[in-house]
Amino acid sequence: MTNKILHAIQSGIKGNLTVPGDKSISHRAIIFGSLSKGRTVVSNFLDGEDCLRTIHAFRAMGVTIQKEGSNVTIDSNGIDGLKEPKQPIDLGNSGTTARLLLGVLAGLPFHVTLFGDDSLTSRPMDRVVRPLRQMGAKIDGRENGKYLPISIRGGAIQSISFIPPVKSAQVKSAVLLAGLFADGNTNIIEPTTTRDHTENMLQAFGGDITIDQKTITILTNQSLKGTTIDVPGDISSAAFFLVAAAIVPDSKLTIHDVGLNHTRTGIIDVLKKMGASIEVKEERHIGGEIIGSITIESSDLNGIEIGGDLIPRMIDEIPIVALLATQANGRTVIRDAEELRYKESDRIQSVVDTLQGLGASIRATEDGMIIEGNTSLTGGVGNSYGDHRIGMMIAIASLIAEQDTQLIDPACINISYPSFFADLANVQQK
Ligand code: S3P
Repeated sequence: MTNKILHAIQSGIKGNLTVPGDKSISHRAIIFGSLSKGRTVVSNFLDGEDCLRTIHAFRAMGVTIQKEGSNVTIDSNGIDGLKEPKQPIDLGNSGTTARLLLGVLAGLPFHVTLFGDDSLTSRPMDRVVRPLRQMGAKIDGRENGKYLPISIRGGAIQSISFIPPVKSAQVKSAVLLAGLFADGNTNIIEPTTTRDHTENMLQAFGGDITIDQKTITILTNQSLKGTTIDVPGDISSAAFFLVAAAIVPDSKLTIHDVGLNHTRTGIIDVLKKMGASIEVKEERHIGGEIIGSITIESSDLNGIEIGGDLIPRMIDEIPIVALLATQANGRTVIRDAEELRYKESDRIQSVVDTLQGLGASIRATEDGMIIEGNTSLTGGVGNSYGDHRIGMMIAIASLIAEQDTQLIDPACINISYPSFFADLANVQQK
């Protein structure tokens, strides 16, 4: 594992940037392309380790998937063409692959074993195992199916009406995918809205889904047809650069072709509420997704309270928002974010430990954190804990630190943003 020494920036973050394709949408493009008959062509696919795991899983089930950089072509005979994989499937670090794939496998008459790396092996799977068992899938695994490795034998499954006990798009999506195979229509009543890319993409592939306020109904037995998917830039990746431009003096940056789906734009609401100088332009709608540009300039920021329904709309951005808050005037409180404890690391603990180590004044609460603003960061040593979003947060923190920062385990950034350091170099004024 090679560490990386990062230096403070001498001038502003400037210019124009496009970020790689959205991780959530890239996973779903492979899943729906594999479940659909005919050819699906995906452009701006996220060529990161997590999404490659989804490709690997469907190749193992006999789907022909060709990839050249960020262009992917999927040729599939649809659900009936899928085959039982011969070997256990390695999901690496990818929670989205694990949970969504379990949803698909619940409906297929195969025996499949899934396993992952140390981080994924300690993340809870019972949140999807429970409803899928209720539908009739046979699932076993470590600690009675709470953790990977998990073996599943799917097949004839029944429809259910399900209220997810956690605010999770992965749980919702697993049940929706299983619903495609159930003996009737499946309802999900979602008390708090989470990202809706599964719903959007199903429709892009010609599927039927109805959304009536908080109830989502997926019809069974649908025939999906291959299509063309142009993946928007990932706002969760853009967030690191939005915060960089907000906190590095004399910055002005425009990020183009970025996804602006309302279920994902909590970071923009937070920046606006803190007083950032930010302009958002919605430019086009493709496959139920909104794409546009965001321009941001450095400005004075104020601490705020963040919680409630905003949290699922910015769940992956909380590490970088914590860094942002260290530079605002006054205190920022983040609550209702207990889900952070079940991410690639316990992100309440890893954010707090890392930022404290870099000189911030921050403390953990049970469901969030409290951050004091106006703090000069010292730099020092920052451990990513193998968590890509912690790694990128440390890299952005290093830009404004008094001394150099040593980033331990930067390689994990390849999980969602392989070109992160190249993009960071491009927006630093020479
Ligand atoms: C994702 C949903 C979120 C998010 C993850 C991707 C998805 O997880 O944190 O990075 O693609 O559905 P939860 O749904 O578990 O909150």
